[in-house]
Amino acid sequence: MKAYIQGIGCYVPEKRVSNDDLAKIVDTSDEWIYSHTGIKNRHIAAEDEASSDLALRASRDALERAGKSPTDLELILLATATPDHLGFPSTSCVLQDKLGAANAAAMDLAAACTGFIYGLETARAFIEAGIYRNILVVGTEVLSKITNWKDRNTCVLFGDGAGAALVTAADTGSSRGIVTSHLAADGSGAGVLSRPVGGTRTPFVEGRTTPESTLLYMDGRKVYYFAVSVLGKTIETLLEKSGLSLEEIDFIVPHQANVRIIEACAKRLSIPMEKFYMNIEEFANTSAASIPIALTDMSLKGILKPGHLVLTVGFGGGLTYGGNIIRW
Ligand code: ACO
Repeated sequence: MKAYIQGIGCYVPEKRVSNDDLAKIVDTSDEWIYSHTGIKNRHIAAEDEASSDLALRASRDALERAGKSPTDLELILLATATPDHLGFPSTSCVLQDKLGAANAAAMDLAAACTGFIYGLETARAFIEAGIYRNILVVGTEVLSKITNWKDRNTCVLFGDGAGAALVTAADTGSSRGIVTSHLAADGSGAGVLSRPVGGTRTPFVEGRTTPESTLLYMDGRKVYYFAVSVLGKTIETLLEKSGLSLEEIDFIVPHQANVRIIEACAKRLSIPMEKFYMNIEEFANTSAASIPIALTDMSLKGILKPGHLVLTVGFGGGLTYGGNIIRW
């Protein structure tokens, strides 16, 4: 059995916030944000929208394109760093109910921005082992609700959104499919990107916990250097594992975190920037949703066509990193 992406979809909230809008609430400017990150806009969820709501829209989109119904699903793998609830119920269970996917098992996957990459490889393993035939892999985030809107170092970087892929079994002889993946982690960097308070390590204590400590914390510099180093290593590992050359890869779809990180990686490996697909300008960093949003974008624009070879690559909190090679 081979596992291939039969349908892809996404959803971003209607509310669009520009860099100029942000300059009204923190000491920043369009010039600083764009020149340091490549971001111009981000989409922000409504007050009553949670990660499962965005995931629902993206999932319906992916299922419709695949010509499948929710009851065909046997497993939902949902990657998020911003679940509807802390710990339980899982956001995948909330989605399973909303979607009416009565025959599907459901579990969440915590690998931050690398979540969709981890999800695709997990789906491939289930399918190639002959356990399931139809798996929905979702990346969904409402980062705006864990963002410190007073911290200009982080609040300009993130956006909300969701992307989903219906991963299906095909005969081994099929040309389409997930060719190979590489999943990796470096837990020694756990403190570089975290939500310091609210878990069992440091629970919320009334009167002592400050609201800011429950929000996203990031050491931007350390993440930057980590990212540049692991993106290059991951691309090299994927090419080695697959026996493919860089020239045979049609597109590299990186986690959309910062254009400057991609430029540094491209320079280090002498890869032309045109090979990387970027849409960070419109959506900012949507963590686990950024790669499926980019794939949907490319597919709808007719950039990505059946037969193309796509390499995804990403990094995120944990720290985690990895990538996939997919024959579209
Ligand atoms: N507007 C204006 N000035 C700012 C802003 C802002 N929004 N943010 C920071 N600055 C200032 C800083 O205060 C600092 O000023 P100082 O020198 O007076 O102290 C100056 O700009 C330079 O700050 P640096 O941190 O050195 O800026 P740098 O060029 O490194 O860019 C950035 C910062 C964009 C965060 C970069 O380090 C980066 O991209 N890091 C990786 C972030 C990332 O990829 N995160 C993904 C996380 S994974 C996940 O999604 C959970």
